[in-house]
Amino acid sequence: MLGCMPPLRPPAPSNPDRSHGAPARYRRIWRIQSAGSLANLKLVTDSLSPPGPGEVQVRIHAIGLNFADIFACQGLYSATPKGPFVPGLEAAGTIVSVGVGVTNRHIGERVMVLTRFGGYADAMNVPEATLWPVPSDWSFAQAAAYPVQALTAWYGIERLGNARKDSLVLVQSAAGGVGLHALQALHSLEAKPVAVVGTESKRQWLIAERGLAPETIVVRDTQYPANLDAALRHYQASGFDVVFDAVYGDAFQPAFDRLAPEGRYVLFGAADFMGSGARPNPLRLLSSWLRRPKLDPLAMIPLNRGLLAFNLIWLWEQSARLPESMRATLALIPSPPHIGARFAFEQAIEAMKLLQSGQTTGKVVLELPVE
Ligand SMILES: NC(=O)c1ccc[n+]([C@@H]2O[C@H](COP(=O)([O-])OP(=O)(O)OC[C@H]3O[C@@H](n4cnc5c(N)ncnc54)[C@H](OP(=O)(O)O)[C@@H]3O)[C@@H](O)[C@H]2O)c1
Repeated sequence: MLGCMPPLRPPAPSNPDRSHGAPARYRRIWRIQSAGSLANLKLVTDSLSPPGPGEVQVRIHAIGLNFADIFACQGLYSATPKGPFVPGLEAAGTIVSVGVGVTNRHIGERVMVLTRFGGYADAMNVPEATLWPVPSDWSFAQAAAYPVQALTAWYGIERLGNARKDSLVLVQSAAGGVGLHALQALHSLEAKPVAVVGTESKRQWLIAERGLAPETIVVRDTQYPANLDAALRHYQASGFDVVFDAVYGDAFQPAFDRLAPEGRYVLFGAADFMGSGARPNPLRLLSSWLRRPKLDPLAMIPLNRGLLAFNLIWLWEQSARLPESMRATLALIPSPPHIGARFAFEQAIEAMKLLQSGQTTGKVVLELPVE
């Protein structure tokens, strides 16, 4: 299934209200009545008001999927709204209407959108401050794949992790959406990567498709600690300067133990908590929770190591900082993302299940016809 491109189903009849260039009065959204199971997610038609002051209406052509979408639908994401909500943190499309006071955007402009939920929609009203022009040589799918995962990689690798030239940086889930952006960031910084993946097939993919040296890629198998040591030997290093990890669980301690003095462990997720069903398995969750790694801050003092943690939702809320954050992200990670799998908008649940499987490379996107 690696890098698979399932055939698009013929799209369902599109919203009759969506003629080109006109604002929509109705739209289709994937809405969940209450978090708990992916099976609760339903495709429905909803009314859409004109964009308010400072907002634009975007007709969506592609939607980027994130691991957090699945956690949110299962009720395992701390920022999940109470009651009904539309998942989705990013999308790309064309502006079809602008609200009062919008000065820097125009109808017909191609934009990528960062949103706090609501992204699984074929049209949406968004504040002007949370969208950016799509680079001219990028597709809508590439633009929809960029904001969340690239901002996450920039913030974790450069801003918090303080990685710089020659830093030795471990990247967990390096073939995934955030992971590939992180590798690109390290390339820009001229830092040295150790890419960690869950399977040998992803290791082979990184060698073939990203040109990584085999000695710098570690599989999180039963030999994981020894594999990390081999990668350190390859670089003639005694420890990592930065670890960038959103797997946690059993992946954590072997990497933390190999942080160099003054090293920074940047933790930004816990994919290890993800099960395989539509709803969370309470026994598996309890077991992961009880076995979760725990640190004693006092024991960290003599080790001279640091642990940092973040959630991008916090950055989204600092709207005044977003323009500069995106500018810095595009400077650090200028290349378009790798799209590993494409689905039609109507196939959102199949797409989420594929992402949940942990087998994907790069980004999973939903696409809508560009008429
Ligand atoms: N804090 C934030 O603001 C923030 C923002 C964006 C993303 N994130 C986190 O960053 C991580 C990567 O996100 P992404 O959207 O780019 O996804 P992704 O990396 O494309 O896919 C998730 C990856 O997690 C790994 N994984 C480990 N244990 C797993 C399990 N039990 N089930 C399924 N997969 C498992 C798999 O890769 P390997 O097996 O190769 O490791 C899988 O491919 C996620 O944990 C996400 O929650 C956090």
